[in-house]
Amino acid sequence: MLTTVLQAQQAFDFVPAPAQVQYPDGGASHFVFDKNVRIVGGDDFNVRYLREHLARVFNPLGDSWAGDPTRSIEFVRVKSFPEEGYSLEVTPSRILVTASTRAGEFYAIQTLLQMLPPQVYRRAEGPDAMLLRQWEVPCVEIVDQPRFSWRGSMFDVSRTFFDKAYILRHLDWLAYHKINKFHWHLTDDNGWRVEIKKYPKLTQVGAWRGRNEALDPAYNSGEERFGGFYTQEDIREIVAYAADRNIEIIPEIDLPGHSKALAVSYPEILCRHNEELLSVQGETRNVICVGRENTYKMLDNIIKEIAQLFPSKYIHIGVEEVVTESWKYCPDCQELMKEKGYTEERQLLGYFGERMEKILAKYGKKVEAWEDVVEAKTISRDNLVLVWHDQKVLQKALDAGYPAVTQNCYYLYMDMKYTPAERGHTWASIIDVEKVYSFDPLQGLDLSGDKQKLVRGLQGGLWTELLFYPPHFSEYQLFPRMCAVAEVGWTPQELRNYADFDARLARTHFERMWNMGIRFRIPAPDVDAQGNVRCPYPNMVIRYTFDGTEPTVSSPVVTGRIVTDHPENLRFATFYADVKSITVEVPGTRTYLKPAVKVSSSMETVKRQPVENLALYEKSKSMRTANPPKEGDYVLFTFEEPVSCRTITVQTNDPVNNFFGITQGFVEVLYEGDSQFTPSDRFNMLNRVVLRPDRPVKAVKIVITGSCEGKAVSIQPLIIE
Ligand code: ACM
Ligand code: ZN
Repeated sequence: MLTTVLQAQQAFDFVPAPAQVQYPDGGASHFVFDKNVRIVGGDDFNVRYLREHLARVFNPLGDSWAGDPTRSIEFVRVKSFPEEGYSLEVTPSRILVTASTRAGEFYAIQTLLQMLPPQVYRRAEGPDAMLLRQWEVPCVEIVDQPRFSWRGSMFDVSRTFFDKAYILRHLDWLAYHKINKFHWHLTDDNGWRVEIKKYPKLTQVGAWRGRNEALDPAYNSGEERFGGFYTQEDIREIVAYAADRNIEIIPEIDLPGHSKALAVSYPEILCRHNEELLSVQGETRNVICVGRENTYKMLDNIIKEIAQLFPSKYIHIGVEEVVTESWKYCPDCQELMKEKGYTEERQLLGYFGERMEKILAKYGKKVEAWEDVVEAKTISRDNLVLVWHDQKVLQKALDAGYPAVTQNCYYLYMDMKYTPAERGHTWASIIDVEKVYSFDPLQGLDLSGDKQKLVRGLQGGLWTELLFYPPHFSEYQLFPRMCAVAEVGWTPQELRNYADFDARLARTHFERMWNMGIRFRIPAPDVDAQGNVRCPYPNMVIRYTFDGTEPTVSSPVVTGRIVTDHPENLRFATFYADVKSITVEVPGTRTYLKPAVKVSSSMETVKRQPVENLALYEKSKSMRTANPPKEGDYVLFTFEEPVSCRTITVQTNDPVNNFFGITQGFVEVLYEGDSQFTPSDRFNMLNRVVLRPDRPVKAVKIVITGSCEGKAVSIQPLIIE
């Protein structure tokens, strides 16, 4: 019989940590969990959910749960409990859950699941499922409630589309962490993702991009038709699934900028001019006309359907990074400005907010919008502002009297890199787990008067332009950073401690997430110049190779010092089961050749990134074209002397933000003694070709075979070893 007793002094590794946990007899006595425990009371869904999870470890289940009257889980409702709060009392004969709402009860169940073996999160019973006969839970008293009522996750499905099955899994992951808001960024320049019956072209046209689509290829999805959308039936299913798990879904229809997908579907919504003004993301013609009544008729019809699909009190209407200059050239917008006495186009943002507030009110909804709505103060104070810059911007929203949620980009943007060597953006910051954890939504604020009440909470945000590849990268970016967001949002500030949180992750929570099926991020090994290797966590291993290839789950485990004459070929990665870190090497062992080279190109470049940069062999000095490339465009590297080397890595895309990679093209090589180039590989998903020349190389040529993503391409210096 498999029985495990938790030592109370070890305590439970709850994530997020509850407000109060006491072990009345130091863990001496316990409640015995097995298939005969009786469940009494409780919300129907909650009980079914609990049973389903218990069935993953205590099989067979059957009706025997009605069984043993001496051991029960009992749910009791007591009105005085706070919204989402609960108490959970474990005694040898009974687990008593008290709450005032089904939400509180649901969170008690989440806490209870964290007292059980991590296999309760398994998604499917396999032949190797761990089936326990029993499990002993030490007696404990927990009284718990969240610090903030808004604990959220924003997810962009426009830049990269994620299907319904993924969204449902994602919602499960959030629920396990007591996160209660899912801000669904459903529309943007690169795809419209929600079916609107009255405007079918939004998804027939606006949900797709590619070579022959209305929307250009973008964010590495390539020439092929890429995209997708959720039918209204899908949305209803997802909304209900979330609601069962106490997650409110707030839909975002990003307006009046970020509207390229809308504009290519119904161009009549654009301003009447032909200026090609660039948005921050380099899009053109993505701002809708705010001066014509037809715009509001169409938006009214769209909002009407959105309002019916989503029970949330809020509909997020965007208002961010709008190229307001677009309105300067539009006779309709100009006329409206005159009528209103506005002197600056930005004032039209306030007008737009006001009009949208009225439309939403018709359908019983309030506005949620990004921070840019605060400036005009035109929307009333019972709407909600979402701040994405720092605490000063949050302060402005509070000073103006708006309730606000923060998604502070310097701490909470999940598209940023964890460390410099990892994949992701850096423009806001490098954000490791500790940095997320260090954030307090109230930090640096003047909370005089009633302002503290206006801070509703926080949410992590994941923009998905770098998520097309590799698979599971969204999970990597989200976890464990979202675990930290969950604890910031839930746990009393005075109980928060990063070292303790990190220890809970290491001891137990990684294993829970692994069972949940999350391919989370783990840190790379520390490797020093002498080849000493340190594993970041005791329950992980480091695997290595000595031929320069990527370590895999079947590579040997590092158990001592590795002796080799070729330390430059060593590669290491941390593994937690099949979850893998990035690969690292022994610093300073690789030698890079920098042979004199002449570089020329058929393409015009921007001034600061000329083609000559590529002769300098400095990673930060890249080349960038001024225009989209055409088929037949090239970059030619001609070495002064033929180069003998093992590899030449041809990396395209911007070294900082990874944009502008070559998605359509290949590399060819001119070997010493040859009069013609030999074609090599096409660019891969990392916009890269690695050459392994077996003869000295005279020249390397990048050949472009299409418009790539239709904006520009960036080329990095060759890496020659
Ligand atoms: C944003 O990051 N533009 C909201
Ligand atoms: Zn206009």
